[in-house]
Amino acid sequence: MRKKYIILVIIFITQCFYVNAQNVKITGDFRCGGWNDDFRQLRDLQWNMESLDLSEADCDSIRQNALHSRHKLKNIILPNKLKIIGQQALFACDGIENITLPESTERIESRAFGNCFGLKTIISSATTPPQIAEDAFSGIDVSKVKLIVPKGSEKAYKTSDVWKDFFSKKAGIVKEKHNGIFNIIPIPNKIRHTEGKELITSNLGQIIAPSSLANESQHLQEILDKRLRLKTKKKSKAKITLEIDKTIGNPESYTLCIDDSGIKITGADAAGVFYGIMTLDQILIPKNKNGQINTIPPTIIEDSPRTEIRELMLDPCRIFIPFEDLKGMVAEMARYKMNAMHLHLTDDQAWRIEIKKYPRLTEKGSFRVGMDDMQMPIEGFYTQEQMKELVAFAKNYHVEIIPEIEMPGHQVAAIHCYPELTCGGVQLPIRTTCGVSDNLLCPSNEFTYDFLENVFTELSSIFTSKYVHLGGDEAGNPPLECWSGCKSCQALLKEIMSDPNTKPQPGSRNDNWRLQKHMFDRVIGFLRSKLNKTPMFWYETDFHEIQPGCIVFAWRHGLTATAIDAAIRCNAKIMLCPGEHCYLDYPAASGDMPEVNWGMPITSLQQTYKLNPAWGYSKDFEKNNLCGVAGTLWSECINSTERLYYMAFPRALALSEAGWSQQSNRNYDDFVKRLKHISTDMHRRGICTGNQLK
Ligand code: ACM
Ligand code: ZN
Repeated sequence: MRKKYIILVIIFITQCFYVNAQNVKITGDFRCGGWNDDFRQLRDLQWNMESLDLSEADCDSIRQNALHSRHKLKNIILPNKLKIIGQQALFACDGIENITLPESTERIESRAFGNCFGLKTIISSATTPPQIAEDAFSGIDVSKVKLIVPKGSEKAYKTSDVWKDFFSKKAGIVKEKHNGIFNIIPIPNKIRHTEGKELITSNLGQIIAPSSLANESQHLQEILDKRLRLKTKKKSKAKITLEIDKTIGNPESYTLCIDDSGIKITGADAAGVFYGIMTLDQILIPKNKNGQINTIPPTIIEDSPRTEIRELMLDPCRIFIPFEDLKGMVAEMARYKMNAMHLHLTDDQAWRIEIKKYPRLTEKGSFRVGMDDMQMPIEGFYTQEQMKELVAFAKNYHVEIIPEIEMPGHQVAAIHCYPELTCGGVQLPIRTTCGVSDNLLCPSNEFTYDFLENVFTELSSIFTSKYVHLGGDEAGNPPLECWSGCKSCQALLKEIMSDPNTKPQPGSRNDNWRLQKHMFDRVIGFLRSKLNKTPMFWYETDFHEIQPGCIVFAWRHGLTATAIDAAIRCNAKIMLCPGEHCYLDYPAASGDMPEVNWGMPITSLQQTYKLNPAWGYSKDFEKNNLCGVAGTLWSECINSTERLYYMAFPRALALSEAGWSQQSNRNYDDFVKRLKHISTDMHRRGICTGNQLK
């Protein structure tokens, strides 16, 4: 952005003086569109901006995502010549109370003011009501927002779609007959319509369930209340029965039977019952904003998952994710039968989990200023108590929390706090840019093992999941090079090489991979024997050998088959998260967020959907080695929780279907139709999603 156009009213002293402006006015030339346009600069670099005056800016459109989720923004004066406010342009700018639409305003697009919870007054200067998307104000109750319109235009606004909602205090409920088309994601194995009368939903109310399903009953009660405005009762004409029948399949399998006498959900375990309830919740999504499903045709659904783990990986290191927001994500994932949240708790840029034995990790390692060109302070960590609370919360949603502590690379924050972790005690500042560091934990140093064992021991009392992730990716560039200059590492390597059982490894750049294997063998041995954990790690070709029974993640573009072959050869399991399909931190379309230009490829919704977790391999592979699917949300560019959701959804739904549903039931066009229905509901609930349905 050209400095000459910025008038700073309040400046807080900073090196780069305009990145921290609270009040910004821009006049004249304005770049809208393309990498790093003026909106991207305002949104991501003016992190402290509270007031923005664009009245004299040469700009007729607040483009899609222009000021997405800038919570600090309190005042905005829109350009005098404004015509269009694009999709999610001011989404979750919840500090804004009053807004004036210029006379020239022609169109307001989907979710432009979604989740603007602070809005009190809108003054529209347009004499003709601007064209407006039905969900321009998604997530907020517009009957509580005052709309002031030009004299003489009141009738036009009061009779125009959407604008009229500002004047009506109470929306009437629209009763809907279910049309028999089940928009369920992930698509179930079998949906059968049966003979008989339809269920009248207002007859429901009584839940019959054993005490072991109290948690699932509670979820069901909340759904009945939200979807049908129905309180549970002691007796009702139609009942909902929840029960467990271990014989129907794996613990996540369920059947859901609907007829005029009620609903019966049978799960092979509580998880299966829970998924039956999640399916019912989707059946109850109405078409209309104020709709309510009042009849459902008799139906039987039989369902079970194709793969065992369907996870999202969240990265609070690059940009911190507030604790409460993790809970929101767990609840949203669970709706689509995703069952694991993988937390990447340590990296070069931060250490985010309290470790009582090593307090410096969070005292010194959880704060920095800057993530690449965004110069804001980034701080925070999770206490052990919070993580215990998250684990318990997630358990109620049948989601497990898998912690990740990286080794031997991506550990600059820990090294910054404890230099003795490295070869020769290297002093390092915390990293403020993305990329790969050459500084690694030293594998020939007992402190490294004490540290890792103590950290994993503390974590094992918090995270009850049987899995623990050890990182293992991108350990320097070229990999593992820093150990070549360490005398004690090279002495250890010599000792390893002198073992008569050491087999030659043709084609290796050097033998440092054996040091990495030594480190992994030792830590994996500890995790298995002392903590009863199953280790996971990111697959790299220079592992050469994978410890049998471990779970590797195939993540690198173009190397999925190599990773699968290695997993089969080494009798290991594998999670599929190939960059081509599963990197949800990449933009979903050209020009979409994050508008960065370091060559991030595009992962479209369709590309995510195309993932076949069997990758063309045999049924034997699927049975013996395939563990599941994972979507990554690396957070270098994700600077708000709403943007985390934006990147995750709707692609996570495509991923959940890849991980859950049988390949023969999957069809992209059909998925898109179902998604339209479900994403409308997400928007009504205030969930932020990306825009691309194709
Ligand atoms: C990774 O993306 N570095 C696993
Ligand atoms: Zn060393």
